[in-house]
Amino acid sequence: MITRRDYLKQASLAAGCLAVSGVRAFAAEQEQQISGKGSLKEHGHKRGIMAGCAVGARQLHDEAFQRLIAEQYNLVVSENSMKFGPLSPKPGEYNWTDADALVDFAEKHKMKVRGHNFVWHAQLPMWFKGTATKDNAKKIMVDHINTVAGRYKGKIQAWDVVNEAIEVKDGMPDGLRKSPWYELIGPEYLDIAYRTARHADPKAKLTYNDYSIEDDSEDNAKKRAATLALLKRFKSNGTPIDALGIQSHIHAGTGETYGKGMRELISRAQALGLEVYLTEFDVNDDGVADDDFAARDRAVAAVYTDYLNIALESKAVKAVLTWGVSDKDTWLNGMREHREKRANRRQRPLPFDNDLKPTAPFFAIRDAFDKAPHR
Ligand code: XIL
Repeated sequence: MITRRDYLKQASLAAGCLAVSGVRAFAAEQEQQISGKGSLKEHGHKRGIMAGCAVGARQLHDEAFQRLIAEQYNLVVSENSMKFGPLSPKPGEYNWTDADALVDFAEKHKMKVRGHNFVWHAQLPMWFKGTATKDNAKKIMVDHINTVAGRYKGKIQAWDVVNEAIEVKDGMPDGLRKSPWYELIGPEYLDIAYRTARHADPKAKLTYNDYSIEDDSEDNAKKRAATLALLKRFKSNGTPIDALGIQSHIHAGTGETYGKGMRELISRAQALGLEVYLTEFDVNDDGVADDDFAARDRAVAAVYTDYLNIALESKAVKAVLTWGVSDKDTWLNGMREHREKRANRRQRPLPFDNDLKPTAPFFAIRDAFDKAPHR
């Protein structure tokens, strides 16, 4: 497989002996191949898979970025601006500027929008800790869901109603995370959240979203079992749930493997009647020993390929979203672990590089779409 990077290397070598205009024409042809019929969204669409990305509020002001995402994707999710903290500066007050901008952009370009998220233990408002009590937490949660779901009613393809509710290591019953919501409301916060969301926006697919539930390790197996048990409980309680989001924040060079665990997770979710979305795909390359760009990109792209080939075998998987677009803006560079161990080596986890040119993962995603059965 020739990546654009390999191609550019070859093209610049060839430029020495070829007429420059000939090289330019070839370059233009290659450029074309990634847009139009060559785009991620077109390759996905042929197989019935949505191609999406997380968008940061600041990036959306950049015109080159806007052009690229409108060309490549048919689904967007806001990286931060629809979370409770970023939305709500004071109790009952909301600042919609960034969230509205993304929804308007998507409407203008006929893209779908995922909503992320209503209920999470992280990125809560600053005021939450001093304000939420056992007496009012349920009302705060329900009012929040009603407010946000109501504002975007009919415009959201799927909502992450609850994000990351399982943490087996916390030692709570059913593997539930000891989140502020759990502590203030009790385990029924989950059912209440889903019922509220269904009522507020009946057309949105209601998703449960989590990470570290799909690899073959023992820890992931425990978290997977607890997640599947939760989804099964939802179904038997009549709690409305339509989809499982597998965040897909994965790693290269750490030896984690995908196969049996992921197949089990997806097939069981499908057996419960759920759709499956890969919601936050990126490949952390801190574990790749080699510093050479080409070697790191090969390692990252190989992980994309292995992972996607297995996940997309199943027709239940209807969307693939990367967590970001360009390596320039990846959240992975801000993670504490990365700053401690790899501060001088920026991550290369996404389908576009710092100059918004396609990287090895771009081609890996497109090839995996081509290989996937039609759904
Ligand atoms: C991350 C954002 O990318 C960062 O900008 C922010 O500082 C922290 O949150 N799982 C999730 C996402 O569900 O919301 C997280 O996004 C990444 C992990």
